[in-house]
Amino acid sequence: MIYSFANDYAEGCHPSILRALAETNLIQQAGYGDDAYTKNAEKIIRELTNSDADVHMIAGGTLANLTVIGSVLRPFESVVAASTGHIYVNETGAIEATGHKVEAAPSADGKLRPADIKPFLNKVRGHHVVRTRMVYISNSTELGTVYTKQELTDLYTFCKENDLILFMDGARLPMALTAPSNDLTLADIAALTDVFYIGGTKCGALLGEAVVITNPGLKRDFKYHLKQRGALTAKGRAMGIQFDQLLRNNLIFDLAGHANRMAAKMANAFAAKGYALSIDSDTNQIFPVLSNSIIPQMQEDYGCLVWSIADEDHSVMRFITSWATPEDVVDEFVKKLSGE
Ligand SMILES: Cc1ncc(COP(=O)(O)O)c(C=O)c1O
Repeated sequence: MIYSFANDYAEGCHPSILRALAETNLIQQAGYGDDAYTKNAEKIIRELTNSDADVHMIAGGTLANLTVIGSVLRPFESVVAASTGHIYVNETGAIEATGHKVEAAPSADGKLRPADIKPFLNKVRGHHVVRTRMVYISNSTELGTVYTKQELTDLYTFCKENDLILFMDGARLPMALTAPSNDLTLADIAALTDVFYIGGTKCGALLGEAVVITNPGLKRDFKYHLKQRGALTAKGRAMGIQFDQLLRNNLIFDLAGHANRMAAKMANAFAAKGYALSIDSDTNQIFPVLSNSIIPQMQEDYGCLVWSIADEDHSVMRFITSWATPEDVVDEFVKKLSGE
């Protein structure tokens, strides 16, 4: 293997985090998120979102998703996700195991729009079927696409008109917010969702997602839900200090922007060589359509994934770059691909 483009969590964490962990190692702190580092990270997040949000650090994305969704829904309520959405496709039924159905809306580009959700609201069988109460989206999406401000505004307005809670999975939110096509800010996201999270695991932290709750009605009992699901970490300081570092001086966005730029270089190289890209992504996940004859070697050298079958002779591949992907590796990849 020359370098793996299989995912964006193959490296550890940004060196400034390791330094901060080492420097604070023996300083005693309160547990369960009441430490000084977490408090500071929360303060920075409130400033960046221009909100009085509650912030909670959770160790992973699946745990964040199931805890948030499980905390919001009543026993008979469901959540709608895109058919490509992480909670529908890739979480081993974790949401369903909380007792809530995930309803899938077909989506070609990974995004949801009001028209995709409408059919779930007009259930003619009343209390014989689940009541749709939440909309789950991710930004960037599972296909690397990003929501525009207009799209998110339309979706949030629709949700409020229909008494739906809008939840944004932000495992790759820093990549979305640094994508060339992005026109959203963190403050917009806070104003146009009820709850969302800022991913750390894929964005330079060892682990951790910062859940940001802006809807006052969802705040009160969240810590009880966290604790009951085993998601309230005694050594919350380990996540607090990471976000404290990542949110200083724009670090998390610089790292995400780097991942995006590395992916763009690769996407351009594929396009220049005449390969189609199956989806128009300007974040750190790209999906070139490759001839099956070159895939085994490509996988051996670069650990990319077969995403789907395009036709008898071609497959859609997924390449992911990370905050730590070395630029010389990408340049070497581009050279090789171009046959230089
Ligand atoms: C959009 C999104 N949400 C959630 C997750 C789940 O995160 P974890 O593997 O930390 O549970 C992932 C993981 O790949 C993801 O891509």
